[in-house]
Amino acid sequence: MSSRRIAIFDTTLRDGEQSPGIALQPDEKVEIANQLELLGVDVIEAGFAVSSPGDFEGVRAVARTARSATVATLCRTRREDIEAGAEALADAQRSRIHIFLATSPVHMEKKLQLEPAEVVEHADWAVRYAGERVDEVEFSCEDATRSDPDFVAEVCRTAIRAGATIVNLPDTVGFALPMEYAGFLNEVRRLCPELAGVTLSAHCHDDLGLAVANSLAAIDAGVRQIECTVNGIGERAGNASLEEIVMAIRVRGNALGAETGIDPSQIGAASRLVERLTGYDVPRNKAIVGANAFAHEAGIHQDGLLKDLSTYQIMDPEELGVSMTLPLGKHSGRHAFARACAEAGVELERDELTAAFRRFKELADTGRPVALRELFVAKVAT
Ligand code: KIV
Ligand code: ZN
Repeated sequence: MSSRRIAIFDTTLRDGEQSPGIALQPDEKVEIANQLELLGVDVIEAGFAVSSPGDFEGVRAVARTARSATVATLCRTRREDIEAGAEALADAQRSRIHIFLATSPVHMEKKLQLEPAEVVEHADWAVRYAGERVDEVEFSCEDATRSDPDFVAEVCRTAIRAGATIVNLPDTVGFALPMEYAGFLNEVRRLCPELAGVTLSAHCHDDLGLAVANSLAAIDAGVRQIECTVNGIGERAGNASLEEIVMAIRVRGNALGAETGIDPSQIGAASRLVERLTGYDVPRNKAIVGANAFAHEAGIHQDGLLKDLSTYQIMDPEELGVSMTLPLGKHSGRHAFARACAEAGVELERDELTAAFRRFKELADTGRPVALRELFVAKVAT
């Protein structure tokens, strides 16, 4: 199957930063942006320039630093947003204004208090206004998946005619199911053939834990850009996680017919940096970058891995800049225990090993971590 190149639009510094309690300073945004460039992301959404003086400075600092990635900032369909955004992006090698406007009935009526015709007019005006100020304009129909596809198609057509070259149809509240999202994207493409001439993008939230599945369904439905964040941080339950999408595409690229330009060896470093600067801990069992993602305690698994890594691993952790571990615990087997002893420099006769392993199991059964030196006080260097 031929492979489509999927652009990775990283919004760690914008949607990710919108997670409660995160306030990245401009120099921290630059540090993360540098790491995102090492990863090889195509677009860095650096912030929402009009939202605060600090965020304006953050977007400007990233725009001045980024070398290979396009730098984007989010804007409402307001003059002040677009002017602030364009000013913050002025020094970028390549600049993108990302305009969003809601298209769902509940957002239009209750939040925006705009008639559908006014939404179309605002979209038209804002895309044209932004297009005069930056290299490219992305338009997002906020809450697209709870919107009428006919209306979304009309707004997309308007935005494209006004000059948008990237159109994003987000699952803003994480409501869609994968097959529904794919069906929705196909339906809007059918209703708006102009979408064939622009980059169609997906942006999924994780309220039902489906953000990555929905993003992959969107790739299957033909999108060419995926919006995501390092460690999956973002509004509420977060966004689709960059590392999960990238590795799903890498490991299952043949099935998906897709590839990205991401260097997997930078994933571990990116995850650790974002964890440190945001203060948002990565859950132990998080796919790809969690502490347990390549940790194997169960004896049967350890035994299999010691014979052949592919028994229980579908990725090479070293390729991601993280390590495999074989922690010893109540589920561990004699094989891994013997190896841990040997690695600690403890030489044991067969009977000694049997006795030590029995003692280890008794202690491990209590549920507390067991250090080898408890078993071999004289033999293990502290
Ligand atoms: O979730 C969303 O709809 C967004 C848009 C601004 C793209 O973050
Ligand atoms: Zn979002």
